[in-house]
Amino acid sequence: MKVLLAGGAGYIGTHTAVEMAAAGNEVVIADNFSNSKPEAVRRVEALVGEKIPCYYLDVADKKLLTEIFEKEKIDVVVHFAGLKAVAESTKIPVEYYRNNIDTTLSLLEVMQEQGCRRLIFSSSATVYGEPKKLPLVEDMPPGVCASPYGWTKWMNEQILRDACCANPELSVVLLRYFNPIGAHESGTIGEDPQGIPNNLFPYIAQVAVGKRPCLSIFGNDYPTKDGTCVRDYIHVVDLAKGHVKASAYAMEHEGLATFNLGTGVGYSVLEMVKAFERVNELKLSYQFAPRRPGDVSECYADAKKAKEILGWEAEKTLEDMCRDTYRWQSKNPQGYPEG
Ligand code: WQD
Repeated sequence: MKVLLAGGAGYIGTHTAVEMAAAGNEVVIADNFSNSKPEAVRRVEALVGEKIPCYYLDVADKKLLTEIFEKEKIDVVVHFAGLKAVAESTKIPVEYYRNNIDTTLSLLEVMQEQGCRRLIFSSSATVYGEPKKLPLVEDMPPGVCASPYGWTKWMNEQILRDACCANPELSVVLLRYFNPIGAHESGTIGEDPQGIPNNLFPYIAQVAVGKRPCLSIFGNDYPTKDGTCVRDYIHVVDLAKGHVKASAYAMEHEGLATFNLGTGVGYSVLEMVKAFERVNELKLSYQFAPRRPGDVSECYADAKKAKEILGWEAEKTLEDMCRDTYRWQSKNPQGYPEG
């Protein structure tokens, strides 16, 4: 099968490219490199041992997108193309809505024109809003999102649901990611945030290599085991493999299906800090800070549906996540080089 990874040069896209190729699929990448670097694609090529067609374009650009579909006979699209910084989305919401929704609409229109009918969408656990019950199950009603970023995921899900209702031939898989962390075990590809990291693990990794002096733990008075927030952290390579399974599923089924991609296990921020210290034999400097607006106290998946239907489950351990994150950060303290 030939898979177009829209936004495929980013953190999850690059890992998915490696796993897609390893499973014997042909990979094509389209990216505008607004939050990623061409070097990431070259490293994917080095890992898979083959050249990957990579198109430099904004996925919202229908004309350029059409040219790709005409040139490459795409079976499945995996749609990662979007802005993803939660805090930034509260400052420039219109850009988030424009970008994250335009990309989906352009993809859907061009796919329809070109007769491609399978799409995997990069959604998020954020669509559940404040959990009323845990673990989070796919058929729970979507909640109230805490940020414009979250709403773009929520709205994209609705757009895709409506498109599937109107066109029974369409096959769409919504993948709701929990908290992706870790890196490829080679240490050559990983997460490369621009500026100050927003997310916990990139921040921890930068403190570990001395790039930042101290981690702030946002809130230690939550009603959790140790007062810090609990999340379902999932290794990015496991997540990538979930896309391979979802694409195979989309080849065989029509309609819309939704899957959580998580481990089903929640760890607190303090547990993550301690695990990172233990696995990598180092000390992290940290301090407690006020709660971060918009954070829910606890969030973890019911991961049974993906196991039963896709035959996918997370295999990597917390140790793998800590070790692989540190390996990537130590080998690439400044992230990917420019150019
Ligand atoms: C995890 C925990 C923080 C940084 C977000 C998005 C989600 C997904 C992943 C984005 C929280 C705490 C964090 C720090 C801290 N998509 N923390 N100090 O908020 O669960 O999920 O990222 O691409 O849609 O919402 O992840 O890693 O930011 O935070 O104490 O410096 O770590 O308060 O409890 P989150 P996160």
